[in-house]
Amino acid sequence: MKILFIGDIIGRPGRSIVRSLLPKLKEEFSPDVIIANGENSAAGIGITKKVYDELMDMGIDVITMGNHVWDRREFLPDISSCPNLVRPANYPEAVPGKGFDTFTSKGIKYGVINLVGRIFMPGINDPFDTANSIVQKMRSETQVIIIDFHAEATSEKNALGWYLDGKVSALIGTHTHIQTADERILPKGTAYITDAGMVGALDSVIGVQKEQIIKRFLTSMPERFEPEDKGPGVFNGLFIDIDDSGKTKNVKRIYKIVKDMRDIKQSET
Ligand SMILES: [Fe+2]
Ligand SMILES: [Fe+2]
Repeated sequence: MKILFIGDIIGRPGRSIVRSLLPKLKEEFSPDVIIANGENSAAGIGITKKVYDELMDMGIDVITMGNHVWDRREFLPDISSCPNLVRPANYPEAVPGKGFDTFTSKGIKYGVINLVGRIFMPGINDPFDTANSIVQKMRSETQVIIIDFHAEATSEKNALGWYLDGKVSALIGTHTHIQTADERILPKGTAYITDAGMVGALDSVIGVQKEQIIKRFLTSMPERFEPEDKGPGVFNGLFIDIDDSGKTKNVKRIYKIVKDMRDIKQSET
C-alpha cells in the first residue's frame, strides 16, 4: 500500500498549495491513500467542518490533528460529523471525537492513530502506553498502521519510533513545522521521520507572518498570528510504500517549492 503523508497544512496558503500540487504528486507517487495533518488548516489554528470538507474534496482520505484540535470552539460539536478525522488518542476518555480508526482502500484495511507528546507541551496521558494498547488491539484487524506523533521534542519522537519498530508501518512526527532529514526504515520495518514538516509560506516562521513572531519575541506582548500568504510556498510530506505484512519497503521525503504563491489558485473557503 502506497501512502502519501502531508505535514501540517497552514491555513488558506497551505490548502491552496496542496490543491495545486496534489495532481502532480498523485502522478509521481500513485498513492492509494493520502493522510494529512490538519491541525492548522483553518486560518493557521484548528480546523472547521467547512475546511474538513474542502480537504476531503481534494482527495485527502484521513486527517490527523494535534494540540490545536480545539482552537475553534465550533468544531467541538462538529467533530462527530467528520468520520475521516482522528484527534490525539492520549486525551482523556470523555473528549469528543476519536483518537484512532481503521479505514479501507482498494479492499485493504489500514489503521491511523494520532498522538501528542508530553515534552514541552501540556501534560496529557502517556503516548507510549496509549500507543501500545491501541496497536495491540489494531493488529488483530490490520498490520498496516500509520501513526502521526504530534510532538515537540525530537527525543520523544525518536524513542516512540524505536519502541514501536516492527509493530507499526510508520511513525511520522509532526508539530514543529520544520522538516527533518532523518527519514529511514528502522530495522524491523517501521518507517520513521522525526518531523514531516508543513505546507505553507516558505518566508515565514513556521507558516506565520515572520514580523508578528519577531515582535512577540522582542516584546513578549500578545500578538495576532496570521498565516503568511505572500512569496514562495513549501510542500513537505513523506511517501511510504508498505508490503502486505505491514512492513515499509520504501520511504521518500518530499520537499517541493512553489516559486510564488500568487501563481496558484487560492482556496475559497
Ligand atoms: Fe502544527
Ligand atoms: Fe501542533
